[in-house]
Amino acid sequence: RPPIDVDVSKLPPGQQITVVWHGSPVFITHRTPEALARLQQAALTTRLRDPSSGTVQQPSYAANWHRSIVPAYGVVVGICTHLGCVPTYSPAPDPTTPVANWPGGYACPCHGSKFDLAGRVFIGAPAPYNLPVPPYAMPTPTTIRIG
Ligand code: FES
Repeated sequence: RPPIDVDVSKLPPGQQITVVWHGSPVFITHRTPEALARLQQAALTTRLRDPSSGTVQQPSYAANWHRSIVPAYGVVVGICTHLGCVPTYSPAPDPTTPVANWPGGYACPCHGSKFDLAGRVFIGAPAPYNLPVPPYAMPTPTTIRIG
């Protein structure tokens, strides 16, 4: 099947869209500078369940702290790695969550797994590994080509 092109030029910082690729939801997030700063907090990495994304392969271009080609845009498959629910976009930090130091990102409505805006899962919830990064490219600075 051919890849799909997504124009993100109209996606404001702080917003995300969901596109369907091969029948699966893919989340594309325009991450703010503040969100990117939160992703880099060293204290967070001790709270990650799959800190190096070692359980599931991810493309080499996503083997970095932002798990994407460019920091501003996150691209992950939106299927919880526990039992397959679709996590909810919740970009703000939430100090009330039982998952400590969660900086906001995606929250699974089924059994409470928490992922950050790089799709990294936090300790204290049942999802065993990070949200996968699908194969994608950026033929222009605001075009994401998935597949
Ligand atoms: Fe997401 Fe169980 S399916 S936590």
